[in-house]
Amino acid sequence: MKHFNIVTLPGDGIGPEVTSAAVRILESVCGKYDVSLEISEHKIGGVSYETFGTPITEEALEDCKKSDGVLLGAVGGPKWDTLDKDLRPEAALLRLRKELGVYANLRPVFVHKVLRSASSLKEHVLEGVNILIVRELTGGIYFGRPRYTQEEDGITFSVDTLRYSVPEIERVAHKAFEAAAKRSSKICSVDKANVLESSRLWRKTVNRVAGDYPEITLEHMLVDNCAMQLVRHPKQFDVILTGNLFGDILSDEAAMLTGSIGMLPSASLGDGIGLYEPVHGSAPDIAGQNIANPLAAIASVALMCRYSLGLEEAAEEIESAISEFLAAGYRTADIFSQQNKNETLLGTRETGERIHEILHQKQEPTLKD
Ligand code: IPM
Ligand code: MN
Repeated sequence: MKHFNIVTLPGDGIGPEVTSAAVRILESVCGKYDVSLEISEHKIGGVSYETFGTPITEEALEDCKKSDGVLLGAVGGPKWDTLDKDLRPEAALLRLRKELGVYANLRPVFVHKVLRSASSLKEHVLEGVNILIVRELTGGIYFGRPRYTQEEDGITFSVDTLRYSVPEIERVAHKAFEAAAKRSSKICSVDKANVLESSRLWRKTVNRVAGDYPEITLEHMLVDNCAMQLVRHPKQFDVILTGNLFGDILSDEAAMLTGSIGMLPSASLGDGIGLYEPVHGSAPDIAGQNIANPLAAIASVALMCRYSLGLEEAAEEIESAISEFLAAGYRTADIFSQQNKNETLLGTRETGERIHEILHQKQEPTLKD
């Protein structure tokens, strides 16, 4: 029997609600595959600050480092926006990513056929859209030094540093090429090489890495153009490889192709432990109301099964349960349309329950076989 230690970090806002729905699915699927789980939970973000005076404790970090996988809900909220930068909820997430060494953030943008009408774009634009964004996660302007705010001659200014080294670009590029090899063998590397020095190094390095993957087609695109192409003709993309800040922005934009940011899961990978989190953030305005969409968190559990637990079949089962759930017309508020009579509005918990039931309905035929 396989055994895994999983750490959950539910965090702030809707984080706890979506995490508990996702944990339910993780337990459910592991039960099916005869895998035993030990789950330990830690606080992160604003709730950790409230309890411990720090957005992440050393103990939480140590437990994450010893685990087989980490599932995170969300961090942040207006309540903690004025805190000193090292005490902010976001600082905990950045530190966690850095200390786990998860330099490649995979954000699959899969448009379910039945959700095309939920997007703000025209349905025909969304036909067949299936993109994987590979975002560099532990470098770039998020981490570059120096960074400071200072006053000179009575004028206040701030400095952030956009810095990338060749090894940092190489390792994330390899992850993107490896992912592309399992898909349609096409990568679009996105940068701002017409202006930025670091982007010129990015482009040169990605071109060199491409030499190791002769079967993969590489193209380059400037980030402003990519932002436009994502809404003009998203089907042209398969794997998008980009830096930390560009990836942050483009993935929120791409999320809207799926109908809602509540649909986008992510896997942050390095050479060891994986960190799994929905892309949507803490959404404090709808927290605690049982209306948040847990599908991104549930799909993140599928990614955990795939990339950290070696349970590919379980991953596929969760993903098809999500498709089946949507095809049956079940919707959370963010993707629900009053006009469509075939849709049933469900809450966060009920969504988790329904996905659990779908997973177990599937088990019966196998047992009878
Ligand atoms: C994300 C989030 C984070 C980021 C924030 C919360 C620090 O927006 O995961 O996309 O910018 O990386
Ligand atoms: Mn973001």
